[in-house]
Amino acid sequence: MSRHDGPNTYGGPGPAAPRESVLRAVALTRTYGQDDTLVWAVDGVDLDVPEGQTLAVTGPSGCGKSTLLQLLGGLDRPTEGEVWLGGRRVDGLGERALARLRRRSVGFVFQAYHLMDELTAAENVELPALLAGSPARRARARAAGLLERVGLAGRARALPAELSGGQRQRVAIARALVNEPLVVLADEPTGNLDSAATADVLRLFGELRAAGQTLVVVTHDERVAATADRVVSLRDGAVADDLLLTPADTPGLPGLLDWEA
Ligand SMILES: Nc1ncnc2c1ncn2[C@@H]1O[C@H](COP(=O)(O)OP(=O)(O)OP(=O)(O)O)[C@@H](O)[C@H]1O
Ligand SMILES: [Mg+2]
Repeated sequence: MSRHDGPNTYGGPGPAAPRESVLRAVALTRTYGQDDTLVWAVDGVDLDVPEGQTLAVTGPSGCGKSTLLQLLGGLDRPTEGEVWLGGRRVDGLGERALARLRRRSVGFVFQAYHLMDELTAAENVELPALLAGSPARRARARAAGLLERVGLAGRARALPAELSGGQRQRVAIARALVNEPLVVLADEPTGNLDSAATADVLRLFGELRAAGQTLVVVTHDERVAATADRVVSLRDGAVADDLLLTPADTPGLPGLLDWEA
């Protein structure tokens, strides 16, 4: 079976996933290697993330958390199974369509920040907006607004090397939001941070949650998992536990993200 067997519905009408589902995995599988070295990094995961949900993914090292997140965000391709984003099947997309989808619809936050060293905080936040075709003035205004929201208005011209780890991660969160993504995917976002910086990131995630932003966070940190609506535990690439902490219909505070640039 090839990954290209599935229908490519991006941009077309195509069959729709349930409307309220922002992100959906169906029998998602990713193996590495072959024969003796075959590893089932993700092994038949079914997952449905409704709009506005904050989902924490936990589990021991090597259980497949990062691989799952990369499949969900189109950074990697499944060996088998389906990924649906915003009601469209995306696992069969070509490279260009997938890159476009990642840029416009997914905001990534990584443990190691992955900022561009030679760009200022503001330029790092602007870049994905410019790449998505936003006019320069609008991208600049949006970046400024987001840096203010993450408490870094005064450091907009700083280079990453001039910022603390917590400040870098807040820049990365602002960058993840610049194109108003359908979903923010974060892999161990507090893994390199001390308690104070972790608290800053958790406060920001709390604001996103209140604003109705769909968020998937891979984490070892119980403090992070405790702030989620739902906690999915992985073991050996499969879902071992799926715990709903907050009922799906808990109202957020709409409008927090709907500000004008
Ligand atoms: N590129 C790769 N090539 C081969 N095996 C890989 C590759 N990436 C991951 N794996 C294997 O897939 C499994 C899942 O890895 P993954 O990085 O998803 O785990 P994780 O849960 O994120 O772990 P951690 O908590 O340590 O970050 C592991 O057995 C890992 O060794
Ligand atoms: Mg990982």
